[in-house]
Amino acid sequence: MSDIQELRRRARQHMEEGAVTSAYTADRETVIRILNEVLATETVCTLRYRNHYFMARGIHATGVEEEFLEHANQEQQHADMVAKRICELGGTPNLNPEGLAQRSHAQYGEGETLEEMIREDLVAERIAIATYSEIIRWLANEDPTTRRMMEELLATEEEHADDMAKLLSRVAS
Ligand SMILES: [Fe+2]
Ligand SMILES: [Fe+2]
Repeated sequence: MSDIQELRRRARQHMEEGAVTSAYTADRETVIRILNEVLATETVCTLRYRNHYFMARGIHATGVEEEFLEHANQEQQHADMVAKRICELGGTPNLNPEGLAQRSHAQYGEGETLEEMIREDLVAERIAIATYSEIIRWLANEDPTTRRMMEELLATEEEHADDMAKLLSRVAS
């Protein structure tokens, strides 16, 4: 009983910190910093896919342009999820265009041809998969909510990579 009362007291004590309770054991500042890098990555991926969507129109791109647009929208959803989580942790989502490319793990590659665009996207997805996997391992059991979110992102990036690999074999052949 006293344990429950003690837990309630401590939860109230730090109420101004929102969803973060004293049971939170991860290094919060580091988690926020890492999530801001993920936010930059997702934002750069959104911009790159949108560029590819608009540029692919006109090239023999029926079916491909829709795929680019769908991915662009999903990367935007990822960015929003990450920004929301940063706020829940008491941080500030860094959406400053200055330094965006430097904070991002993946690159903004435009590509001249449809094949080059798809290759740029595939490389970026593979980078995201590698770094997100590392983040998930690092978070371990310290912050299950952030980890679950990152696992959801990772699953989508794996689908994206698979989509791009399939498109590449179609376009390149
Ligand atoms: Fe994403
Ligand atoms: Fe992706």
